[in-house]
Amino acid sequence: MPTLTAWSKLTELSLRLALSSFLLSSLAWAADLPPDDCLPRHCGNGVNVSYPFWLDGFQHSHCGFPSFKLTCRADFPVVRIFEDDYHVRNIFYRNQSFLVSNVGLSSSTCYVPRDNLSITATPFSIVPAQSSLFFLLDCEPNSQPPGYVPINCRNGSKGLSFVGRDQVNASACKSVISFPIVGLGDDGLEKYNDALDILKPGFLLRWRAVNCSECLESGGRCRYDAKQSRFSCLCSDRSHAVSCKGLVLMFLLSYLFYVKNFQTVARWSPHVWNLSAHTDSKSL
Ligand SMILES: *[C@@H]1O[C@H](CO)[C@@H](O)[C@H](O)[C@H]1NC(C)=O
Ligand SMILES: *[C@@H]1O[C@H](CO)[C@@H](O)[C@H](O)[C@H]1NC(C)=O
Ligand SMILES: *[C@@H]1O[C@H](CO)[C@@H](O)[C@H](O)[C@H]1NC(C)=O
Ligand SMILES: *[C@@H]1O[C@H](CO)[C@@H](O)[C@H](O)[C@H]1NC(C)=O
Ligand SMILES: *[C@@H]1O[C@H](CO)[C@@H](O)[C@H](O)[C@H]1NC(C)=O
Ligand SMILES: *[C@@H]1O[C@H](CO)[C@@H](O)[C@H](O)[C@H]1NC(C)=O
Ligand SMILES: *[C@@H]1O[C@H](CO)[C@@H](O)[C@H](O)[C@H]1NC(C)=O
Repeated sequence: MPTLTAWSKLTELSLRLALSSFLLSSLAWAADLPPDDCLPRHCGNGVNVSYPFWLDGFQHSHCGFPSFKLTCRADFPVVRIFEDDYHVRNIFYRNQSFLVSNVGLSSSTCYVPRDNLSITATPFSIVPAQSSLFFLLDCEPNSQPPGYVPINCRNGSKGLSFVGRDQVNASACKSVISFPIVGLGDDGLEKYNDALDILKPGFLLRWRAVNCSECLESGGRCRYDAKQSRFSCLCSDRSHAVSCKGLVLMFLLSYLFYVKNFQTVARWSPHVWNLSAHTDSKSL
């Protein structure tokens, strides 16, 4: 070990100080997050609600995105999608999809969708690989297409209604509504006692939202920033756009800055250069 001048000792000291303050502050900041105010909550039926969803009345609105607001209705979380309410039966956070069924199915004895599912202005999309059902409403007598079953509870002055799975020429009916449905086997629909039982399994929607994993893995918490209408990753120092990694990067850069300055110095002083190599292999 070469003898060190007082000057290079000072430089070594400042490097060590920089390193230890980097380590210390990373530790301190990691421990600095307040208690989590967005822990998963549920309405009683077991579906745990967390980012990007949030449960109105139980969680702060910054816990998720506005279109992912769920409301408890008799033990079930309910999502509103373009003027219609759907029970959220399950949420698959891993593959960003969730299973819903029309609220009307449990509140009305003869529920038929009022309109085609409209999700164009939402962050949701229909999971492909599902079946479609076609509701033929208010049809003329003797217009039942092959493979369709009558919706008897809807008999009335306006005509007859049917449900089936193949798109048919429905010129004999006043309207056609199409709806996705999960897990409909290949068999016909005749096995259903009540044609509307077919709707009960619901359908799967996929969602688009900033993937929370990167923020979580960096030690942060996923939040919605209402002021800027965007995702934010809550870290111990402040909110970041994607993850807390920017924080670590900042420290890394400042560390590299120190090393670089150090090497500039080293060109004049071989002692210091060797100190640098020594310090590097020991501290890192
Ligand atoms: C919901 O979260 C609680 C607590 O973490 C857990 O015990 C429960 O099994 C979860 N329920 C479901 C349906 O995943
Ligand atoms: C989210 O990101 C993680 C890692 O960045 C990845 O493993 C995971 O598949 C992503 N999830 C989705 C649904 O894209
Ligand atoms: C997501 O996972 C669940 C459970 O494993 C599965 O039932 C569902 O079909 C999956 N969703 C998509 C879009 O693949
Ligand atoms: C509805 O109309 C069909 C055909 O006319 C009839 O067979 C069926 O019994 C009716 N159902 C009810 C509930 O009135
Ligand atoms: C549907 O059926 C009606 C009456 O049977 C017929 O006039 C019409 O051309 C058909 N439309 C199509 C697109 O086949
Ligand atoms: C619903 O969608 C089907 C095709 O998927 C279309 O034929 C029908 O006209 C639509 N109904 C309404 C009410 O827009
Ligand atoms: C650094 O020290 C080693 C021995 O530890 C020596 O061989 C080498 O020449 C020194 N480098 C400089 C630039 O003085």
